[in-house]
Amino acid sequence: GAAALILGIETSCDETACAVLDGSGAIRAEKLASQIADHAPFGGVVPEIAARAHLDILPAMVGAALREAGVSAGNLAAIAATAGPGLIGGLIVGANFAKGMAIATGAPFFAINHLEAHALTARLPGLDVSVPEFPYLLLLVSGGHTALIAVEGVGRYCRLGTTLDDAAGEAFDKVAKLLGLPYPGGPALERLAAEGDAARFALPRPMLGRPGCDFSFSGLKTAVAQRVAATPPGALSRSFAADLAASFQRAVVEAMADRLGRALAMMPGCTAVVVAGGVAANGAIRSALANVAARDGRSLIAPPLRLCTDNAVMVAWAAIERMRAGSPSDPLAAPCRPRWM
Ligand code: KG4
Ligand code: ZN
Repeated sequence: GAAALILGIETSCDETACAVLDGSGAIRAEKLASQIADHAPFGGVVPEIAARAHLDILPAMVGAALREAGVSAGNLAAIAATAGPGLIGGLIVGANFAKGMAIATGAPFFAINHLEAHALTARLPGLDVSVPEFPYLLLLVSGGHTALIAVEGVGRYCRLGTTLDDAAGEAFDKVAKLLGLPYPGGPALERLAAEGDAARFALPRPMLGRPGCDFSFSGLKTAVAQRVAATPPGALSRSFAADLAASFQRAVVEAMADRLGRALAMMPGCTAVVVAGGVAANGAIRSALANVAARDGRSLIAPPLRLCTDNAVMVAWAAIERMRAGSPSDPLAAPCRPRWM
């Protein structure tokens, strides 16, 4: 029932997060700490630093969330943690913390697949978006993941495409670094691109027109690197960087629109496209995706950004969805899996 409270924990990458939801999906407490500042000097997420940072702050964060929700650990109806895919050190910290709590309290433990959690987020009640009906298409584009997933029901997913090399956000971050922008580069690159001329540089459109729904970004990133390398330092002006950023962004937009179009063609019965992941914050990408969806008579659903990026509300919600679907909890021996699905 609605009074049963579920704790969710997320530690698969560089966000430490926990949340308490009631059985209806209402959020009773929501905590998140980003490690961006810890990793920025290295230009990317350092797994060992991430795991230690999760360990440093998770216990107090969970304590604070339980207090805020007005529940003691012993009264939780379920405890859920992301068990993969992700960075193994962080997964072990979060999942073992949850297992310890489950042992101490007797509450059932749920080992949540991070991609499943992203996939089901849009179904959380009370969001300012229409709730997608199954089957729908998920486009997940973040720093760590690039995937097109047919969501046919709770526990029923079919991956239609993924990246053959870099994740979409990783490509933004690497190109931003080439252009001298700070980490994480996606938002800064989008701002710079807004001043630039996207027609100035002819860059490759990765996978455009190829069969299937897979992505590839490393060739595009290399093309940008070659442009930068071929330009004398004196000519690396702000307008050069802005034009290159805009040209890169347009190439990504066109490639993504192409991939989405192909995935939709494979799912005639689907009425909605749900986007998730930090890259979905990009305005140019978002409007291109909305156009492709609309052209095909489907709607584009974007949950609020804080729930599109890594968070623990989605982890608790995935456990609630699984319980409602009659799925049993997981054994305490359930492993953490850096790669999963
Ligand atoms: O989902 P997310 O917050 O977390 C992880 O992947 O862990 O995604 C972060 C990624 C980063 O690569 C960041 O550069 C990218 O999303 N990103 C963007 C934008 N905002 C964030 N990429 C392009 N345009 C943006 N506006
Ligand atoms: Zn994620």
